[in-house]
Amino acid sequence: MVAQQAPTVSATQLSGTTDLAAIFRAHPERRYVMFGGKGGLGKTTFSAATAFWLAKQGKRVLVFSVDPQASLSDIFQQDIFGKGPVNIMDNLWAQEIDADRHIKEYQEEIRQKIRDMYGLDEVPAEIEDYIQAASAEPAMEESAIFDSVVDIVNQGDYDYYIYDLVPLGHALYYLSMAKVYDEWIGKITHLREEMREYEEVAARMKRQKEVDEDQILGELQYIRNRINSASRILTDKERTAFFFVVIPEQMILIDTKKAAELFARFDVPIGGYIVNRVLPEELASQKVPAYLRNRMEMQRGQLEEIRSTLGSQVVGHIPELERDVTGLPMIERVAQLLYG
Ligand SMILES: Nc1ncnc2c1ncn2[C@@H]1O[C@H](COP(=O)(O)OP(=O)(O)OP(=O)(O)O)[C@@H](O)[C@H]1O
Ligand SMILES: [Mg+2]
Repeated sequence: MVAQQAPTVSATQLSGTTDLAAIFRAHPERRYVMFGGKGGLGKTTFSAATAFWLAKQGKRVLVFSVDPQASLSDIFQQDIFGKGPVNIMDNLWAQEIDADRHIKEYQEEIRQKIRDMYGLDEVPAEIEDYIQAASAEPAMEESAIFDSVVDIVNQGDYDYYIYDLVPLGHALYYLSMAKVYDEWIGKITHLREEMREYEEVAARMKRQKEVDEDQILGELQYIRNRINSASRILTDKERTAFFFVVIPEQMILIDTKKAAELFARFDVPIGGYIVNRVLPEELASQKVPAYLRNRMEMQRGQLEEIRSTLGSQVVGHIPELERDVTGLPMIERVAQLLYG
């Protein structure tokens, strides 16, 4: 019988801890999963690996992105942009939302409303100019994105929804926009409601019948509901699991800490931190060039810092791999490292 070798510190430190798998098992109600972090740290990689692992556990999973950069197409090595949910393997679908197309659909909807309202065949040129100008506004893109996220989450019948998020700054921006919109629409809706009461009183005094249904009020409430349901998911402590991806580098950790504070202010429940791109400790016992030795030394310092500041909030360490993570076999390998 061969004696079981005691795990070295570095092995436990680097193994994809099973903590993450345990978290998923303990909280089956957390069906909305997000990986946030600065650009290029591994959000898409972990989104795909998590989707893969959950699908292998027999869950129906949709991993989706609103990023025009089409990163899911890269990692799954399939062109899925703007094609709706594309089946990748048993239980796993991936979707990349084409926000531009949603904006075009919006524009068409507006044109149709104008044509119907005024009984026109063509939308007048100056109104067309206005529609074009409005579509160039970032707000239009955001509401197109909000809308498509809400559609996806409302329509699908998946067990898990995994958001392949845009880099932190953008995610925060969306979140803050949702709050601003919400407050703004709240105010307008309130004013509109008050006005409506006056109108009703005035109508009754003039013995008119019912005031026409207030279309503007209806529209405002509709927009508000949609924005709310998009941001509500992000801040739902019961149903959302939000993980930060970091790497052991000082600047990244400083930025992430700031972002985490902001996220907390928007009530985003942070489920833990995953440390990516950790240089394998076994390299230390090999003849490696000085610069690599220095980098490992630097990482060791940052890993210690992470341990002392984040402690049990760290749910996994993933080593630096010898190549990019693209294609199912590499995704499976990361899933193995993440979930054991
Ligand atoms: N542990 C790792 N070892 C080797 N390569 C990795 C590792 N993790 C991620 N990568 C690679 O790093 C690159 C960036 O990863 P990824 O696309 O997942 O980051 P991201 O956070 O989604 O980036 P963005 O902010 O641009 O969306 C990819 O080429 C990916 O394959
Ligand atoms: Mg990405």
